[in-house]
Amino acid sequence: MCGIVGYTGRDQAVTYLLEGLRTLEYRGYDSAGVEVVGADGALHGVKCAGRVAALAERCETANLVGTTGIAHTRWATHGAPTDRNSHPHRDCSGRIAIVHNGIIENFRELRSYLQRNGHELASETDSEVIAHLIEEAWRGPAKGDLVAAVRNACRRLEGSWAIAAVCADAPGEVVCARNGSPLVVASAEGGAYAASDVTPLASVTSHVIQLENGQIARLESNGRVTVYDEDGAPVAHPATLDIDWDASAATLGGYSDFMAKEIAEQPEAIERLLGGRLGEKGIYLDELSMSQADLAAIDRVYLIACGTSYHVSLIARTLIQTWAKVQVVCDYASEFNYEQDVMVTPNTLCVIITQSGETADTLTAARRMRGMGCRVFAITNVLGSTAARESDGTLYVQAGPEVCVASTKAYTAQMVAAALLALRLAEARGEMDHAEVERHYRDLCALPNLIREVIGRSWQDKQAAPLFRRAHSALFLGRGVNSTTAYEGALKLKEISYLHAEAYPAGEMKHGPIALLEPGFPVVAIVPEDRVHDKTVSNIQEVIARGAVCVAVATDGDEAVASLVEHVLWIPPVPDELLVPIVAVVHLQLLARYVARARGCDVDKPRNLAKSVTVE
Ligand code: F6R
Repeated sequence: MCGIVGYTGRDQAVTYLLEGLRTLEYRGYDSAGVEVVGADGALHGVKCAGRVAALAERCETANLVGTTGIAHTRWATHGAPTDRNSHPHRDCSGRIAIVHNGIIENFRELRSYLQRNGHELASETDSEVIAHLIEEAWRGPAKGDLVAAVRNACRRLEGSWAIAAVCADAPGEVVCARNGSPLVVASAEGGAYAASDVTPLASVTSHVIQLENGQIARLESNGRVTVYDEDGAPVAHPATLDIDWDASAATLGGYSDFMAKEIAEQPEAIERLLGGRLGEKGIYLDELSMSQADLAAIDRVYLIACGTSYHVSLIARTLIQTWAKVQVVCDYASEFNYEQDVMVTPNTLCVIITQSGETADTLTAARRMRGMGCRVFAITNVLGSTAARESDGTLYVQAGPEVCVASTKAYTAQMVAAALLALRLAEARGEMDHAEVERHYRDLCALPNLIREVIGRSWQDKQAAPLFRRAHSALFLGRGVNSTTAYEGALKLKEISYLHAEAYPAGEMKHGPIALLEPGFPVVAIVPEDRVHDKTVSNIQEVIARGAVCVAVATDGDEAVASLVEHVLWIPPVPDELLVPIVAVVHLQLLARYVARARGCDVDKPRNLAKSVTVE
């Protein structure tokens, strides 16, 4: 949440800063702003509510000449998304400016303290106090050293932060600090760079430094980057990360939107993840970093995640319980963190599932589990993310950068990763022999082509979209593993089309929600060929009898369903019914996208959302 960038070097800062904001905009888009240390020795800034494009327009007519600067794209937490609350924030002198991602929990006390001491605060944000605390330190104990001033200010903060600061009296310097919120810095051709994640840096370097909590970095215009620890001592070997993808992976590459691109990338992502995972000894999952004996001893698995990743955990639970016969508990991270009845044994494995690897609730849950002595295994997409760095083992799903706020390719790749974990556990516990593991692995390897087929049938989703265009609400129904597909389909639809959608296990309809139905009410039923097919067909009959307009996701050739419903989204037969969710959901992703477009919504940047949820 919130994206920050910083630059100092030989080029005009505003060029890199705006480009950086464009690539980070998926982290928040309530407002944007930029501040440059001008050649005239003063700060020059532009900031406004709205998107980076609006900021860029304003920058064209502003005097932003200077080779050092910082910029921010905001997801509002404290204070409405107004011009005034946009970052960067300045101190009283107007010579220090900061951008911040995170939450300053003690900002009320700090505001009162600063106001009592004569500071004038111009915004309602928690972040602004940082600029004034740096100002106090700059004038006082730091004696004009920006690193010391930032360190001094950070000591008074409680909460989470990634900060970049500039000072008109320290030209050619950007100082960054991290505690809890992600921040990377790099020395590269043309200068020194900072950003919330590697996306804006991929075009200038393939090697970045990942700041650790408590560290502060000084970026200098000759490209030098120096990292200091909490006590101000230089860190000889800061943590580094090699960016293994091309900058073009985060561009549209001919697609009209990132959602379309990322839906299309799903088959390749799964192929990458599965490649070379089966050997003579079975499933290769060294990322777990656990011995055969430790794996065999696991007696409980906790799966913790948020949002779409939580839906992955529901599928993972079925796969692990069915294949490996281990008891699994799934929990929303935000709920888990305040539960009192968490039961762990010495052999409990905690698995966190997080595309970004930066979701604050999930990270807090993982820390809590580690605190209770649990091993934590992360399934994530982002290389070097906090989840990866703080876990005992990490499986990267390698889906490539996911830019669209609504997760698609990470969802299917994470489900496949969960299947690999389930197989590895089944094998280690002696629940499957090699032949069985091989059969399941082959079934997984069939998925990319099945998904290709569904993507090739996107015209079916396009045809179904008008049924939802004027609706006020929609219902998604499924049974067994596909009740989760229904949850995910409803989430996709509501988040990008702003159409209320609710998901229910199909058999539960008659216990209440069926009262919602009236003629024309759209219902999406997931009804593949599986053991609960006939039961689900009965539920479809019940909703149609109440006048609902039913769209079904059904298996090729299912005339019984086709003759009942208004519209069918066909899927090819899937070799294992437990894997159907990985194929069927692709129709629901496509459907949500077509409905959102028909309703004139921005599918990549839905309102009120951000890609990386770094606040609890
Ligand atoms: C929905 C979506 C979110 C995320 C959730 C967790 O399309 O993307 O629900 O799944 O915010 O994010 P990660 O997986 O990064 O922890």
